[in-house]
Amino acid sequence: MSQSKPLIAKFDSTSVVAVIGAGAMGAGIAQIAAQSGHRVLLFDKNEAAIFKAKESVAIQLHKRVLKGKLSQENYDLCLENIIPTYSMNELAGADLVIEAIIENLDVKRSLFLELESICKETCIFTSNTSSISITSIASKLSRPERFLGLHFFNPAPVMPLVEVISGLASDQALAKVLYQACIRWEKKPVYAKSSPGFIVNRVARPFYAEALRILDEQGASVSQIDELMRECGCFKMGPFELMDLIGHDVNYAVTESVFHAYYQDPKFKPSLSQKSLLEAGFLGRKTGRGFYQYDSNGDKHIPNNLTDLPIDRKWTESKAPEGLLKQIQVTSKQENQQNQLSPTKGLIERFLNDNFYFDNETNQDLEQQIVTSFKFGEAHIALTNGLTATERAKEESLNNLVLFDLAFDYSSITKLAISASDNCSSQALDDAYTLFGLIGITLIKLDDIPGLVLMRTLAMLTNEAVETCLQGVATGEDIDKAMCAGVNYPQGPIAWGQRVGLTLIHQTLVNLQLSYGEDRYRPSSLLRRLSVSGKKIVNEPAH
Ligand code: NAI
Repeated sequence: MSQSKPLIAKFDSTSVVAVIGAGAMGAGIAQIAAQSGHRVLLFDKNEAAIFKAKESVAIQLHKRVLKGKLSQENYDLCLENIIPTYSMNELAGADLVIEAIIENLDVKRSLFLELESICKETCIFTSNTSSISITSIASKLSRPERFLGLHFFNPAPVMPLVEVISGLASDQALAKVLYQACIRWEKKPVYAKSSPGFIVNRVARPFYAEALRILDEQGASVSQIDELMRECGCFKMGPFELMDLIGHDVNYAVTESVFHAYYQDPKFKPSLSQKSLLEAGFLGRKTGRGFYQYDSNGDKHIPNNLTDLPIDRKWTESKAPEGLLKQIQVTSKQENQQNQLSPTKGLIERFLNDNFYFDNETNQDLEQQIVTSFKFGEAHIALTNGLTATERAKEESLNNLVLFDLAFDYSSITKLAISASDNCSSQALDDAYTLFGLIGITLIKLDDIPGLVLMRTLAMLTNEAVETCLQGVATGEDIDKAMCAGVNYPQGPIAWGQRVGLTLIHQTLVNLQLSYGEDRYRPSSLLRRLSVSGKKIVNEPAH
């Protein structure tokens, strides 16, 4: 470790920012810094890229002027602040370097070695790398303590999250300086320790991986999974729509890099279906075809030979059969000892509002309980806990078991995934369709896949978030904040898991592990501990 004097950790709007690499990310980062009043030295080894970047910033800023979000004066000022720089030596006056060049360790290392001989001693060095270890880029520098990660998300001027990443040698005072700078830039920064995928690119893996796994097993189709994740999970986009937007080359490369970085941990195993899209050159929206096909207007269609699987799908309209008895029998309830919300609260309320009555219960009692299983007509209906309906029916000696999926908020959904045990009668299924149909929920019957769609995805997201916290990569609060600000999750996966109940999340993972016999679904030891103690990692639910 070098013995050099500590850096002066000062950075304000008079500080000069050098952005190296004027591609998609560099242009956006230059815009952010210039908008906050910094002089920005924009350098790229390809001079045409600098010109193009400045042009694209001008277009973006002009849109803001037209919307009345930026004055003409500030527009001019901002563009003046971005100074095209054609030689590395001109970067000598920079107080902060943000590198956004090609994603290659050797190229990044040699760039910073060169910068060490050009920039002043107090200049802070950062990289926008999405997958390379910060510790490793810094390792050849004579002053590795001044090197950190500053990971913006695409498009940088729009996405609020910035991960401020410390390598093993990074000076923590500088991490704080960068964090404060991000706040001045109106970003939402989080602290992270350098580790593969940092926060978002690691914790988000199950969002794609579980969808791909279900698809690989023909448990549900691409459009069904997307629809369910949007409708029941409140995600802005379904996983296949999002992968098509990101591009399969990029998304697959991140998955593969995280998988190898964690020594082939099966949690991160890439999918062969996604690989074959790559092999076919179906990279997503940018090539006009990915999981979906895109026409010249950008509208998406399902390519019928690729993913539109013949799945048993039944839609129902709410129509009460004559003389129907609106009686539901509660078959499993627990006292709500930890004073948590019942995961099915909104659903039970909808039944009560529709004048269903529950046997042996006053409505008030019911609201104090956690109800996860009930009987209507011939159907035993239960919230999934990670077992297949067939196995759970055998375990609980039930003939006609129908499982339903988790929803972010049952009070507003209009669709819900179900599965049925192999020996479930068609009458029991009809009863389930009727029951949910009467409260305005259309059931989508999937194959009998363990944990259905949202429950298994959330269980895996919460597990990864908790494990990331356990390993000290970031605090629970920062992990939740990162997933909301970086990838628009409706709630942070830890707060969401706590709301559903970590006992149920843990049980779902144990059952998934049992169903698949795979290490991929092993619960984090911290999750297991929390499921026993009832303790929470985050206090405020991050929305
Ligand atoms: P890009 O390909 O759009 O731009 C890279 C630019 O760097 C090009 O203009 C190229 O001429 C220039 N360049 C390459 N080597 C150089 C060198 N030695 N010296 C000076 N300029 C050099 O790439 P993009 O997408 O902007 O990515 C840049 C960095 O940001 C990468 O490390 C990437 O992993 C990271 N990143 C990318 C995100 C994305 O969604 N595109 C998101 C977050 C991080």
